[in-house]
Amino acid sequence: MAEIRETTHDDKPLAATGDPAHAEYPRFRLMARIEHMTLLVSFTILCLTGLPQKFPFSPLSQWLVGTMGGIEMVRMIHRWAAVVLILGTVYHLLTSAYRLFVKQEDMRMLPDLKDGYDLRDTVAYNLGIIEEPPKMRKFNFGEKFEYWAVVWGTAVMIVTGFILWNPIAATQFLPGNFIPVALEAHGWEAVLAAVSIVIWHLYNVLVKHRNKSMFTGVLSHKIMEEEHALELERLEEGGDPWKVVPPAVLARRRKVYFAVASVVAVLALILVVWMFTFEDTAIIVAPAVTRDVFVPLATPSP
Ligand code: HEM
Ligand code: HEM
Repeated sequence: MAEIRETTHDDKPLAATGDPAHAEYPRFRLMARIEHMTLLVSFTILCLTGLPQKFPFSPLSQWLVGTMGGIEMVRMIHRWAAVVLILGTVYHLLTSAYRLFVKQEDMRMLPDLKDGYDLRDTVAYNLGIIEEPPKMRKFNFGEKFEYWAVVWGTAVMIVTGFILWNPIAATQFLPGNFIPVALEAHGWEAVLAAVSIVIWHLYNVLVKHRNKSMFTGVLSHKIMEEEHALELERLEEGGDPWKVVPPAVLARRRKVYFAVASVVAVLALILVVWMFTFEDTAIIVAPAVTRDVFVPLATPSP
């Protein structure tokens, strides 16, 4: 029987030849880089249009709102960026499901015991207790933590954002006091996410190393050696053996996958359109900026 060969991961040969110290190693496929760019742009816009609503009295917020054309425009931009974030999330879920169920790749982002040992050994190495740093895999414990923090944070933002967007619909199946709770959760999770991206993520990728892999797709020998020594060894040995999937099995898995994925994609689209059009009553979270309050001058009584 003919066999279809599917590579498990990005096991291409080294991108550079000659001196291994100057070689570059495959790290992210094009679609992963496009996904990251979409997340980067939508997240930044959501912060720039959300945080001024949370802190409406700050001069910076007022300047941002004024520059973007006023609070109603800011709210509209926030919602369009939210739609991009939601569609990006659905795409990520569907492609992850394809890699998991159809190609049956390993779930390399799942934390396991080795991550615990790597964390312990990294601390011990930094304190000078052990001589050698741990050898880590393609995604180390810090990257896995960050990935799951983004997954969890995005889920919270989508659920609470949905409640703020459609408070009347939400109160059909939730008690009314969930709305102020959703507002607090949405606002403070936004602060947490923005602070951790700036302090942690940008420190790791821009300050600790000049890591451009999410834009170029490749990582230098130096960073690979320091942060992904096991992955470096794996790639230098030629990557994993190719996974051979009989065509009948592949065809059967794809059929099931595409049936389920189409339903999920259509439901997600319906939800987004419904969210945009169902009601126009999202609560006003920035009263100081949105309303001109009429305050009569105190007139002295005769
Ligand atoms: C990581 C992404 C996001 C960030 C950083 C963010 C940030 C914020 C912040 C800080 C506020 C003001 C809350 C307050 O005053 O306490 C806000 C309001 C709001 N957000 Fe988000 N948000 C995000 C994602 C979303 C999503 C996915 C949705 C929709 C599903 C959404 C819908 C809303 C709505 C409806 C409001 C109320 C203001 C308005 O009517 O425009 N947000 N957001
Ligand atoms: C200027 C802004 C940003 C830059 C320069 C940047 C750069 C990078 C780079 C170089 C990587 C690959 C690190 C590696 O070798 O594994 C990466 C990974 C990642 N980025 Fe960003 N990023 C930015 C903003 C964001 C934002 C706003 C988010 C999400 C809200 C985000 C989420 C992630 C995630 C989940 C990963 C995979 C986990 C990891 O490797 O840490 N990034 N980013």
